[in-house]
Amino acid sequence: MSTAATPMTTGKTLGYKTHAIGSFQFGRDEYFAHIHYPGGRHIMQVDAFLRALMRDVAWGFFYGTVNFDTVFGTVNHYGTVEMFIGLFNEGYRANNRHFVETFEAKDLKAVFEGMLEDWTNEGFDPFAAPDETGTVYGAKKGNNSKAIKRQRLIANRMVGLPGDLTFRTEPLNRQFQDVPTDKPEVHAEKGFENEVHAFNFFDYVCRSDVTWNPSVVSCVKDSQFCATTEEHVLPITHGNDRVEWFIQATDEIIWDVDDRATGRPRAKVTMKAGDVAAMPADIRHRGYSPKRSLLIVWENNDASLPQQYASGKLTPYPVAF
Ligand code: PHB
Ligand code: FE
Repeated sequence: MSTAATPMTTGKTLGYKTHAIGSFQFGRDEYFAHIHYPGGRHIMQVDAFLRALMRDVAWGFFYGTVNFDTVFGTVNHYGTVEMFIGLFNEGYRANNRHFVETFEAKDLKAVFEGMLEDWTNEGFDPFAAPDETGTVYGAKKGNNSKAIKRQRLIANRMVGLPGDLTFRTEPLNRQFQDVPTDKPEVHAEKGFENEVHAFNFFDYVCRSDVTWNPSVVSCVKDSQFCATTEEHVLPITHGNDRVEWFIQATDEIIWDVDDRATGRPRAKVTMKAGDVAAMPADIRHRGYSPKRSLLIVWENNDASLPQQYASGKLTPYPVAF
């Protein structure tokens, strides 16, 4: 399909720009993001849209599919990206109302970054928990570049080693006042005093001011341990292209687990502190964290995995019981 998108007028008098790539056009007004594409239009609440957009940009389109909702999203092909309407929605597919366009990742990223910058008002932080940020609504008012252009802190070897990143100074999050913050005792063998080091992981991660943003805390070859603090709802529904493990370190997250292709419900998983789960490679999932919690996401970064799952060489689950 290559018919032109419906012309966008949304948002012009409110100070927001219309953003376009290929045959997609995006507009925002006080409350909503409007997506126009050949043959139709889609609408999302603007706060949900910007929170999802922030993740898609920050994660470089992530592993597999980033569903902004049950209709709109992106699929990462690691170099190119498909942007879609209804691709993983049974109703759209059954009636042939889905629409997909492929872009160079860098081109789509540039458009997404421009839209995020333009549509994010002063005082609204799309990475923050709703209770820790201002309003997203209304006409254009300033910007919040600082929040949307956060740089990852990268340690050379380990936080706290001489000459490396220093321990963070932000306060413990209001909802993590109960985590243990005592310092570990280090008893190094003589001569190894400068080689052995430890810090309290809870004390470090629980000072994070962002939510739903797994950050690599240890990396050995393709094994990446990614810690994140969660509150409210995961702003995207993730359709993975590989198995992913969750370790719930504190509190509780309730997961909706649905079929990746159709969105049909498959499971509700309640993970309490200490629980470990393997999320299969053929599902999509979305987590709900009523209170801020600490989650560790264990990712396998092996680039050959999507093909191995897609071809059936690997089963979509790690263990057969
Ligand atoms: C996931 O999709 O697996 C995911 C994404 C972000 C999080 C946690 C889990 O913060
Ligand atoms: Fe996931």
